[in-house]
Amino acid sequence: MPKLYIKTYGCQMNERDSEQVARMFVQKGYTMTDREDEADVILFNSCSIREQAEQKALGKMGLLAKQQRHRPHVVYGMMGCMAQSKKEELFKELPRLDLVVGTQKYHRVFEHVDGILRARQERRMDELQTAFSGTHVCDVAEEADSQNRIRDHLNPGARSTAYVSIMQGCEMKCAYCIVPYTRGAERSRPIRDVVDEVKMLADSGVKEVTLLGQIVNRYGRQMETADGKGGFVQLLEAVHEVEGIRRIRFVSPHPIGFRQDLVQAFTYLPKLCSHIHFPMQSGSDRILKEMNRHYTVQQYLELIDYARKTVPGITFSSDIIVGFPGETEEDFVKTLELVRKVGYMQLFTFIYSKRTGTKAAELPDPTPRKEKTDRMTRLLKVQDEIAMALVKAQVGQTVKVLVEGFGRNEGTLSGRLDNNLTVEFTADASLMGSYANVHLTGARATVLLGELA
Ligand code: SAH
Ligand code: SF4
Ligand code: F3S
Repeated sequence: MPKLYIKTYGCQMNERDSEQVARMFVQKGYTMTDREDEADVILFNSCSIREQAEQKALGKMGLLAKQQRHRPHVVYGMMGCMAQSKKEELFKELPRLDLVVGTQKYHRVFEHVDGILRARQERRMDELQTAFSGTHVCDVAEEADSQNRIRDHLNPGARSTAYVSIMQGCEMKCAYCIVPYTRGAERSRPIRDVVDEVKMLADSGVKEVTLLGQIVNRYGRQMETADGKGGFVQLLEAVHEVEGIRRIRFVSPHPIGFRQDLVQAFTYLPKLCSHIHFPMQSGSDRILKEMNRHYTVQQYLELIDYARKTVPGITFSSDIIVGFPGETEEDFVKTLELVRKVGYMQLFTFIYSKRTGTKAAELPDPTPRKEKTDRMTRLLKVQDEIAMALVKAQVGQTVKVLVEGFGRNEGTLSGRLDNNLTVEFTADASLMGSYANVHLTGARATVLLGELA
């Protein structure tokens, strides 16, 4: 049996897409391997969000190809966002690369790999040429409805949680962001299709679904009802009906279009986890404007306030970019203030990375790198203190944990709370995939520790 190795960079969307590709290959008789040196097909699912993510994938694939010169039969493919943005250029950067597949073509990866293998074989027979050096295939064109072709999951019965893609693409054009150019125009899947997929997952034992989209609250914008209920809330209601599903999460919403109907949904949909990943990006109105984010700090805070009043105990996480072109010390201090004011459970922080083709790439960026990394260190320190305090405040409670895997220490299991915090506790592996009542006894950094209640 031929073996497939996939390495995934980037966001949950990419994890989901890699899984689709893996499933296709397994159906055709491949086995998966986590060892590059025994793989016959090596696929990277790449991310373009920051320079570093691209460099990592390029570096690793280059190195692999070099190390494996003695295995000329291996097929190398690059999929995903960098494939979409760099296209044929990748063949120049990676001479051993055979295949480039864009973000709307995941469902065609198997046929392309198969085609390459066949072409090589034929050529070998024709020319008795053994050291054939690859057939270049680049498929990055748009394809309508590409998402609906990739809905089945790989052996979901083995897990209690799963990702479900509800929409693709983004048209917001935040000044720093490459995604609108890698994932294409915004497209929502019909409610019926999403619900069917969730039902199938529930039937195979999945208990928690995370709905994925670049901006989930723009889902089905045309579907708004007369009383102002948006398409996304209608979708949440429909998914909520699915028997067997006990928890629903979603990433990422945008502060623009996060309306009262969505906050209200938390009050009458008990499966909806009371945690919102709510990307802020900066605490300075001037920078937010430059970023093309269309909201002010005040508006953002009002939304947080409204959500906290409406849904007691709700927690927030966020994305912050440090060192956007022209960010001054004063702007940065405003970000620190905002982070303190909100009290995020988790923060995903990034140093600005220039992406060619975006609007921000043309802005002057005089701040030295050293200053940006210093700002980042200060931000992380503030956030660490906040998160530790929030985590400690949970100790002493008895909570419901959905067990998702093994903990770091022998004999422990790990899972998440409604509010997205991770808990590790001593228990038998038979609890995997089910709910456990756990008494929280302490914390290791931001991971809660506990005992079965
Ligand atoms: N669609 C989501 C974000 C997806 S990208 C949203 O709008 O919230 C995830 C995060 O990466 C972004 O929220 C942003 O904080 C960060 N990011 C995007 N482009 C970046 C860049 N050029 N440099 C640094 N961070 C970036
Ligand atoms: Fe990028 Fe902005 Fe779209 Fe998010 S909303 S994917 S940050 S352009
Ligand atoms: Fe990266 Fe593409 Fe996701 S650029 S963050 S993999 S949408």
